[in-house]
Amino acid sequence: MKTIYKANILYTKDKSRFEVMENGYIAVDSDGRVTGVATDLASLDSEGVQVVDYGDCLLIPAMNDLHVHASQYRNQGLAMDLELMQWLQRYTYPEEMKYADEEYAEQMYRRFVRDLWRFGTMRSCIFATIHTESTRLLMRLLQDAGMGAMVGKVAMDRNCPEPLAEPVGEMVSGFESLVEEYSGLVRPIVTPRFVPSCTPQMLHACGQLAAKYQLPVQSHLSENREEMATVESLEGTWYGDAYDRYGLFGQTPTVMAHCVYTEGSELDLMRQRGVMVAHCPTSNLNVSTGIAPIRRFLDEGIRVGLGSDISGGHDLSMLRTMVYAIQVSKVRYQQDHSQLPLTLSEAFWMATKSGGSFFGRVGSFEPGYDFDALVIDDSDLRLASHPCGTKSDRYSLQERLERYIYLGDDRHIVHRFCCGKEIMKP
Ligand code: GUN
Ligand code: FE
Repeated sequence: MKTIYKANILYTKDKSRFEVMENGYIAVDSDGRVTGVATDLASLDSEGVQVVDYGDCLLIPAMNDLHVHASQYRNQGLAMDLELMQWLQRYTYPEEMKYADEEYAEQMYRRFVRDLWRFGTMRSCIFATIHTESTRLLMRLLQDAGMGAMVGKVAMDRNCPEPLAEPVGEMVSGFESLVEEYSGLVRPIVTPRFVPSCTPQMLHACGQLAAKYQLPVQSHLSENREEMATVESLEGTWYGDAYDRYGLFGQTPTVMAHCVYTEGSELDLMRQRGVMVAHCPTSNLNVSTGIAPIRRFLDEGIRVGLGSDISGGHDLSMLRTMVYAIQVSKVRYQQDHSQLPLTLSEAFWMATKSGGSFFGRVGSFEPGYDFDALVIDDSDLRLASHPCGTKSDRYSLQERLERYIYLGDDRHIVHRFCCGKEIMKP
């Protein structure tokens, strides 16, 4: 059964501009895929098809979060007074240790999944913890909600408190039990936490899992100078190469968070292998890592999406993350005029089509894409025009989207779709 949705449609085919259709139509087939998008119903093969009319609402692709730690949800908005390595030891690892307790995990993960839903994030790349059972629980909650996710049982076995160091064999068997159970919209992703917390044996095992099951990989890369020096001294090579040696750098689809200091050979290898950057602007600010050179990455053909990085980042909203991405790029521009600030369409494209590409054909309304969408009622953001005013007083559709991105929140989202299915509050 096909459905056609009518609304004011905005999306980005290309990063440089918005596609805008006033009173447009999107046809979606029974598999949840977009089959056509048009301004006139007649061109869409609409005979006998149900048309759902969202009136004057905006219809945009749903949000994709390429990097978020579900297990740090309690620490959101806390503990921003230390830099990365000390922050991990002092605040983050003690919190993650609590996930040995499945009751605690369930309480936190329920809240996390509900809030992802609230903010319209229909796909995410998630770090859980080393704990297999609480990771399984998180996967079940996401699956029950109908939202898409790649969920990482975290691999780590050094430079951390003893309860968070899991023997390699246990990591592998726990991970494989999740692979057996989940292969659909919610699926496992190989997740070495980062090189400083994984022995060569652990990194090797991660690479083997990715190759054996042809699974994607996520981790952290070149986030902080102290971290990078630790990698050099442990592995005797540059950061990206330390992953690459173990088959963890684009041999299967790979996303690396941060890349604040990525350049030279590391950047070349990322381009060559299609390794994606998860840009986490709030985290760049909060743990004082510095601002990733996203303009340069885009100019050089590196794939980039956006991540909230809770709890290094403090905001789960991808709208707000877009705004921060633009704002931090302006700070960088002030220091280096050769790197122009990000535009609104570029930030939107990173949160939708570019980030979505990690999950498949996700994040656009072009035919063949999964219908992941948000219906936005922004009527309270539209100031009444002057009674004597003309049409030009009204906000254009693109201006309405801009105001929604800067000023709106979850309360403006009236419907959410993932893969063609409406997703109700979990
Ligand atoms: N590097 C290793 N672990 C983490 C983490 O939990 N958050 C951030 N921002 N960086 C990391
Ligand atoms: Fe992170």
